[in-house]
Amino acid sequence: MPKLDIDYVRAQFPAFKDPLSAKWSFFENAGGSYVPSNVIERLNHFMTSTKVQPYAEFDTSAIAGENMDKATNYFAEMINAGNDEIIIGGSTTMNMYVLSNAIRSLLKPGDEVIVTNQDHEANVGAWRRLADHGMIIKEWQINSETAELEIKDLKALLSKKTKIVAVTHCSNIVGSINDLKSIAKLVHEYDAFIVGDGVSYAPHGFPDVKDLDVDFYAFSLYKTYGPHLGLLYGKKEILNQLPNQNHEFLEGDVPYTLNPGGPNHEELSCLVGVYEYFTSLYKHHFPGEKCSVREQIQKVNELIANHEQEIANPLLEYLNSRSDIKLIGKTSINNKDRAPTIAFTMDNKSSKELSSELVKLGIATRNDNFYAWRCLMALGIDVDDGVVRTSMVHYNSHDDVEKLINALKKI
Ligand SMILES: Cc1ncc(COP(=O)(O)O)c(C=O)c1O
Repeated sequence: MPKLDIDYVRAQFPAFKDPLSAKWSFFENAGGSYVPSNVIERLNHFMTSTKVQPYAEFDTSAIAGENMDKATNYFAEMINAGNDEIIIGGSTTMNMYVLSNAIRSLLKPGDEVIVTNQDHEANVGAWRRLADHGMIIKEWQINSETAELEIKDLKALLSKKTKIVAVTHCSNIVGSINDLKSIAKLVHEYDAFIVGDGVSYAPHGFPDVKDLDVDFYAFSLYKTYGPHLGLLYGKKEILNQLPNQNHEFLEGDVPYTLNPGGPNHEELSCLVGVYEYFTSLYKHHFPGEKCSVREQIQKVNELIANHEQEIANPLLEYLNSRSDIKLIGKTSINNKDRAPTIAFTMDNKSSKELSSELVKLGIATRNDNFYAWRCLMALGIDVDDGVVRTSMVHYNSHDDVEKLINALKKI
């Protein structure tokens, strides 16, 4: 397995050459990532040449529609879904909200829904609202010492009445990668649906939704090197059962039925650029080796995971060695059991003060609860001040980490 060519990677992202953004060591990737030039070019092309309603006969409209379809088809291939199993909506929060409204019709009062307190609120609030319709909400709680979700606690909550389990694939605070495949298997033993939140997972490697065997899976495309959109995957046989959330006359037009208002055209079309970026990564690192899109993604995922582990472990080690810093989650990454999404607090300093000092030293970071406020409450952290989160992706370098460690040493 070759090593990720970080110079090649960074050369694809104009932000690293832009005078405004290039001065920062960027550690706010879990908030939203930079985009490669392919995405910018695709967006520019759509806005310049094909900014008309798509799918009419004249060429500009036909090309706009073709690019939108290409984006859906490529993303379906990248995550091993059918192209009629993905919805590109405004955001993950919006997609979950629409999904929960639709699923409600399959439930009856007394049915049970399990949510966690490790998740971002997007995969909690939409499900908790079902309590207004008589469903019982149960909470799978983290271990407050380790911040991890433990399978034994889920087993204690599951029952014949369980209909939905909503759980994150990776926490945007703890960074832990939950074993979604095993969780899905367990949930299916109870004939319940599993809804995975992949927002903090997908930027570190696009998942294989069929292998995970999840019923629904969501992630935010603005964190996976694209524009501000959200992707929702749903198994076709379940999507077919869900009532139409779109215009009445669009009945049966699955999965469009779960995308009221439709996708944002220009942003959808520039997702082709994300696909192009990932296939270019494959070609650069594995020249001449032919394989399917999904196999290419798997190989690139491995390159990325190795690089992320290599840059994140020294930072985790440093944070863990500081007696005045409380690191949340695992203290090292081993075999992709953790994402390089690293949150911490410091004794005798608020997270606000700490993040301001880091920003002054050239580190782009912030303090917040990052809408995982139930998780912070469970950990006894002030939800207004929150944590400092330093999140990396594959374009972060050893230099970034060195700069952050030096800044923390000064502080
Ligand atoms: C883990 C996780 N889930 C869900 C969301 C919500 O995503 P969106 O902003 O697309 O609604 C976020 C956003 O930060 C997140 O980090």
